[in-house]
Formats: sequence, C-alpha cells, structure tokens
Amino acid sequence: MERTFILVKPDGVKRGLVGNIVSRFESKGFHLAQAKLISIDQSLAETHYAEHAARPFFGDLVSFITSGPSFAMVWEGDGAVKNARSLIGKTNPADAEPGTIRGDFALSVESNIVHGSDSPENADREIGLFFH
Ligand code: PPS
Repeated sequence: MERTFILVKPDGVKRGLVGNIVSRFESKGFHLAQAKLISIDQSLAETHYAEHAARPFFGDLVSFITSGPSFAMVWEGDGAVKNARSLIGKTNPADAEPGTIRGDFALSVESNIVHGSDSPENADREIGLFFH
C-alpha cells in the first residue's frame, strides 16, 4: 500500500486545525499509520527541505517550520501521494480550490498550513527522517 508523509505546519497547529485535517484524510478513506507532535529543529528542517536550499525563501521556510510544534503523520492508501496532494490543494493558497485544505484555510504561500510529499520516493525519505 502506498504511503505519504503529511505535516501540519506550525500555523495549522496554532490555529487548532489538526483535528479538521485528520478528519479530512480519514473521510477520504486513508488509513493513519503513524502520527506525533514534533518541534522541528534547525537540522531536521534543513534536511527535510534540502532540495530547496538554493531558493531565495529557504531561510524563511526554515524559520517558519521551526517556529512552533508541527503534527507529523503517515497516511496509507491507493495513490496516497497524489490523492493527498489533491486534498491539500495548490502550494500557493491563492490558486488552491475551495474544498481543499489550503483553499479553505490559507491565504499565503509563506503560511500554507500543511506539507505533503511530492513523490513516493520523497515520501519514503521524509517518513524515514521523521519516524525512525
Ligand atoms: S512544490 O509543491 O514543492 O512544488 O512547491 P514549491 O513551490 O517548490 O515550494 C516548496 C516549498 O517551499 C514553500 N514555499 C515558500 N515558503 C516561503 N516563502 C515562499 N515565497 C515560498 N514559496 C514556496 C512551499 O510551501 C513548499 O513547502 P511545502 O512544505 O513542501 O509545502
């Protein structure tokens, strides 16, 4: 069964959206395999987002993701990576459809509530980083 890594970022945790987000994944039919609240440190943040290290917003992204507790999850299901990204919506909430998590709860790309793996390979890498 395919697995994906989903992270409710510090803005989503602070705003009390964990339950709503978990419920959306459950309602879609995914199976929750693992979950935990975690304060991401600088080293884990830089490793998790390593592929974006050269991008101009990298420093802001690392500061944001280390700014408070996040909620890390592993969800299983058919086409988990692609189906989860459909539930999450486009990276920039301005482009995300209503009915998606970002479309319903977020206004800016700097603070877009949730992360989902973008490929099965990255899902395995991220699950290994957060759950070992
Ligand atoms: S994607 O979905 O990976 O194709 O999106 P991408 O545009 O490559 O963005 C990668 C992650 O960087 C975040 N991001 C930003 N953070 C802060 N400021 C700006 N301007 C910005 N642009 C993009 C974006 O939310 C992605 O984070 P994750 O956690 O993977 O969703």
